Amino acid sequence: MIQSNISLKDYNTFGLDITASSFCVVKSKTEIINLIQNEFSKYAKKLFLGGGSNILFLKDYGGLVIKNEIKGIEIERETDEYVYLKSYSGTQWNDLVLYCVDKNLGGIENLSLIPGTVGAAPMQNIGAYGVEIKDVFESLEAIDLTTGETIIFNNNDCQFGYRESIFKNQQKNKFFIYSVTFRLNKKPVLNLNYGDIQKKLIENGCVNPTIKDVSNAIIEIRNSKLPNPKEIGNAGSFFKNPEVSIEKYSELFLLFPSMPKYDLPNGNVKIPAAWLIEQCGFKGKKYGNTGNHAKQALVIVNYGNASGIEIYNHAILVQKEVEIKFGILLSAEVNFI
Ligand code: EPU
Repeated sequence: MIQSNISLKDYNTFGLDITASSFCVVKSKTEIINLIQNEFSKYAKKLFLGGGSNILFLKDYGGLVIKNEIKGIEIERETDEYVYLKSYSGTQWNDLVLYCVDKNLGGIENLSLIPGTVGAAPMQNIGAYGVEIKDVFESLEAIDLTTGETIIFNNNDCQFGYRESIFKNQQKNKFFIYSVTFRLNKKPVLNLNYGDIQKKLIENGCVNPTIKDVSNAIIEIRNSKLPNPKEIGNAGSFFKNPEVSIEKYSELFLLFPSMPKYDLPNGNVKIPAAWLIEQCGFKGKKYGNTGNHAKQALVIVNYGNASGIEIYNHAILVQKEVEIKFGILLSAEVNFI
């Protein structure tokens, strides 16, 4: 049923009280196809919403917001080594992680507690603690929004990059992601190289860690650094970590010898945007109803009454200051609507 003038406050993790002129919930593939073919909704501007965890609404939405509640997890097939799990796109990402951890299926435990839905995960190739979904992604089923036809995209078809996929670029707004199939390892191989994971496992007394131990350690690390959107509105990292040439990094290093970096296989380096932002003095500072979180400078928060434009203007200020100080233009990870 399509409803009019609905507040999206509970449907975006910034907690912005904006209004959608039309709104509906979908629970099946048939309902999606009906919306594509229905006389009223066929031509309407549409926004498919998963967890609303990577979106900044700049104003009320004049169009149809479709909340995806097509949920479920099933085993598609298995081999001696792998289980291929198909998950419907409205499933909460963390519910899938919990399912895998519970069944000792390895591959996504480092992605514990990431907010959002399974369908949004391939859109921006979600990643954390040394793992990206492209590492375990097998395929997805997408519905063509013009024809209603189901198309299969394999890993290469998705053109995954750092927080990028074909669905944010050439195929933007052309498909609805209906289900995603992941390849999970029956004999989990742990990925413990990133940051504080090893330290946290030792602290927790885990000598031979299981994927449950890893998942718990990551949950503890995330909870200690990242604000819970249920308490303070936010969308995780606001910007991507910038990639620069080694020459540019070397120039900057002479001026800022404590600047951290990660080496990339292509010879370039990635610099933590959080560090650049912190050096500009934004960390933990409040600007009206917004500002940068005290424990993670890359997270821009809504202290309660911010508008989308106020958050956006603050992000532009941060971007400008970083550019002036370091000559690096940060690009947003969050999508502006
Ligand atoms: N740092 C600072 N100041 C801060 C925070 C961090 O200087 O306030 C520096 C430190 O040098 C630290 C480095 O930044 O070692 C990296 O920090 P962190 O491990 O917290 O990760 P990040 O690079 O800021 C990325 C992802 C996160 C993901 C973490 C962990 C991006 C844009 N963000 O953040 O993903 O959880 O790594 O893997 O790549 C998200 O995409 O929304 C997200 C939260």
